[in-house]
Amino acid sequence: MSHLDNIPSTPGKFKMEKSPYIHRLRWHSSLTKLTFWSLVFLGSILIFFFRSPSSSPLQSDPSRRSLSTYDWGGPAWEKRVRSSARVRSRNGISVLVTGAAGFVGTHVSVALKRRGDGVLGLDNFNNYYEQSLKRARQALLERTGVFVVEGDINDSALLKKLFEVVPFTHVMHLAAQAGVRYAMENPSSYVHSNIAGLVSLLEVCKSANPQPAIVWASSSSVYGLNTKVPFSEKDRTDQPASLYAATKKAGEEIAHTYNHIYGLSLTGLRFFTVYGPWGRPDMAYFFFTRDILKGKSIPIFEGADHGTVARDFTYIDDIVKGCLAALDTAEKSTGSGGKKKGPAQLRVFNLGNTSPVPVSDLVSILEKLLKVKAKRNIMRLPRNGDVQFTHANISLAQRELGYKPTTDLQMGLKKFVRWYLNYYSLGKKTAA
Ligand SMILES: NC(=O)c1ccc[n+]([C@@H]2O[C@H](COP(=O)([O-])OP(=O)(O)OC[C@H]3O[C@@H](n4cnc5c(N)ncnc54)[C@H](O)[C@@H]3O)[C@@H](O)[C@H]2O)c1
Ligand SMILES: *[C@@H]1O[C@H](CO)[C@@H](O)[C@H](O)[C@H]1NC(C)=O
Ligand SMILES: *[C@@H]1O[C@H](CO)[C@@H](O)[C@H](O)[C@H]1NC(C)=O
Repeated sequence: MSHLDNIPSTPGKFKMEKSPYIHRLRWHSSLTKLTFWSLVFLGSILIFFFRSPSSSPLQSDPSRRSLSTYDWGGPAWEKRVRSSARVRSRNGISVLVTGAAGFVGTHVSVALKRRGDGVLGLDNFNNYYEQSLKRARQALLERTGVFVVEGDINDSALLKKLFEVVPFTHVMHLAAQAGVRYAMENPSSYVHSNIAGLVSLLEVCKSANPQPAIVWASSSSVYGLNTKVPFSEKDRTDQPASLYAATKKAGEEIAHTYNHIYGLSLTGLRFFTVYGPWGRPDMAYFFFTRDILKGKSIPIFEGADHGTVARDFTYIDDIVKGCLAALDTAEKSTGSGGKKKGPAQLRVFNLGNTSPVPVSDLVSILEKLLKVKAKRNIMRLPRNGDVQFTHANISLAQRELGYKPTTDLQMGLKKFVRWYLNYYSLGKKTAA
């Protein structure tokens, strides 16, 4: 079953070609009539295209293009959805995991499934990074019994359908456009997934009966230009240094609104640089590994006055424990049928490792594990979104979630490298 008709296909940039602009051109500028009418002509063509259902030729944003190609629905599909979301343990929960084919989503889904919870994945498999890796994670999930629905979180019709088929008790919302630098290349993908997608998801959650409790991924990047360390939840978060950070901060405010108006139980988790097996190829530890093995030089950033750039690297298994603890301690939403019945839980936690490591040390550890010397190219940290230092104060998560990270960078990278060599078949041919 195809859902071409209810696909929103209105890229913002086309809208701007319309009214206010043209009026101003007409009344306030000295452009010739010819220019004016050519613009009108061009405008009509654009309007024609973005209104027509087959608008794909004009759409360049991959996340949006793929939105119109999903297939979902039908009895066989519903059966798979139900079976994947079926709770198998006493006191188990049924969780919709968005971004399930992503790095964190895969690990969280597997952990939930293994302890007997019902898990349904949702992912749009966009091409922000190698799709083959997302497909390989999906295969892993299939083997664990988790079905990943292919679809977009901004597709309200699909979300409504999922909640009709399964009365989810929890949503683990991990789908997002991640990455700091990519925001300058494709800003609208951040608005699409991290703002519009989040709102679409919360709209459906607030109307669902029962309303689920929602745990979602914010980011340490909300601390932005904040210089007070370690970062505590109460510190200021009003100086984001990237559009990515700004959309995560906006997400926290949107969460506040849905909690306040509709009684949705909402927990935001500020992850600090998560790494590990099945990780993200756009992150430094991952492409450093690739480039060191290739003999390619790697950029190592330093701050002003040769200041150290350091990250509070957090191992994936520790993050997974934090996510599960957040789900397990989440109180029920209080509303029903879109109406608030009483105050609901609203929380924000740092999930970090509390020991920042200079990026140059990360490289040294990788060199030892890979037994290859890195070609280091020391460069000044560009002012395009990355901050110089992150360090989490995790005492709140420790107290409320029992969160206690146990894997240091040395040990975590060892596990990552082992996975990497095996996955790309570069190590000894042992496991598949
Ligand atoms: N990995 C980190 O270091 C880190 C740090 C801070 C915050 N986070 C946040 O944690 C969450 C998970 O991150 P990750 O590292 O697993 O990233 P990821 O990119 O591997 O996973 C995100 C998944 O969401 C999917 N997705 C994106 N937009 C979608 C949409 N509109 N509809 C449906 N699916 C969509 C992607 O295909 C991808 O598989 C994200 O919200 C991210 O912003 C991650
Ligand atoms: C998200 O979906 C809504 C409707 O559900 C649509 O109006 C909007 O244009 C979509 N936003 C993006 C950025 O795709
Ligand atoms: C860490 O955060 C807690 C509040 O959760 C605060 O009481 C404590 O002072 C903070 N510690 C530091 C070193 O900032």
